[in-house]
Amino acid sequence: SSDNSVSLIAFTTIAFLTIMEFTVYRDTWMKYEYEVDKDFTSKLRINIDITVAMRCQYVGADVLDLAETMVASADGLIYEPVMFDLSPQQKEWQRVLQLIQSRLQEEHSLQDVIFKSAFKSASTALPPREDNSLQSPDACRIHGHLYVNKVAGNFHITVGKAIPHPRGHAHLAALVSHDSYNFSHRIDHLSFGELIPGIINPLDGTEKIASD
Ligand SMILES: *[C@@H]1O[C@H](CO)[C@@H](O)[C@H](O)[C@H]1NC(C)=O
Repeated sequence: SSDNSVSLIAFTTIAFLTIMEFTVYRDTWMKYEYEVDKDFTSKLRINIDITVAMRCQYVGADVLDLAETMVASADGLIYEPVMFDLSPQQKEWQRVLQLIQSRLQEEHSLQDVIFKSAFKSASTALPPREDNSLQSPDACRIHGHLYVNKVAGNFHITVGKAIPHPRGHAHLAALVSHDSYNFSHRIDHLSFGELIPGIINPLDGTEKIASD
C-alpha cells in the first residue's frame, strides 16, 4: 500500500541523514589561530633541528637575551655528529617539504588540509637515514628544545663552544682552524611553543650552502 511505501521512504531518508550527520561529526577540523600572548611570566619554548656543516666540537649554540645573560645555555640541545648530505629518502622528504612550502606561500588555507592529514599520518620531522653510511660524520645536527624568557634576545650557533664570563659570553673560537669553517646549514625544524603535529613552520626544510 501507499502508506507502507511512504514510511519506507521516510525511514530510508532518516537513516541516510543520520549516517551523513555521523560522518560530519566524525570529521574533525582543526582551526589554527594566532593571538597575542598575554602571559609574561612563563617561558617560551623554542624547538630546533638544525644541521651545520661543521664538526660538533667546533660549534656551539646558545641564547642571549636583552639582559645579556646567557640563558640556560641550551642544555636541552643534543649535538649529534651526522653527515651533511642527506640520504636519497631524506632528499625526497626535503623536496616534498620545500614543494609544500612554496605552495603554502600562495595558498594559506592549504595549511588546514595538511593539518588534517597530519593526524592520520606521521609527523613532519626528517626521517632517519635508511642507509648506514660508513663515512665519518662531517656535520653537526643540533636538535632539541630550550626555554627562554619572553624578552627580546637572539639565538645563535657559531664557531666555538660558548663560555660565560661576567659581561656576557664569548665563543672559544681561537682553536678552530679557518679551513674547517663552513656555515652551510639546513633547518629541518624551527618553531615556538609546544610541538603541534602537522604545522609546517616557515623555515622548515630550508638550506643554505656557503661556497666560500
Ligand atoms: C660546506 O659544506 C657543504 C656541504 O657539505 C659543501 O657543499 C660546501 O662546498 C662546503 N663549503 C666550503 C667552503 O667548503
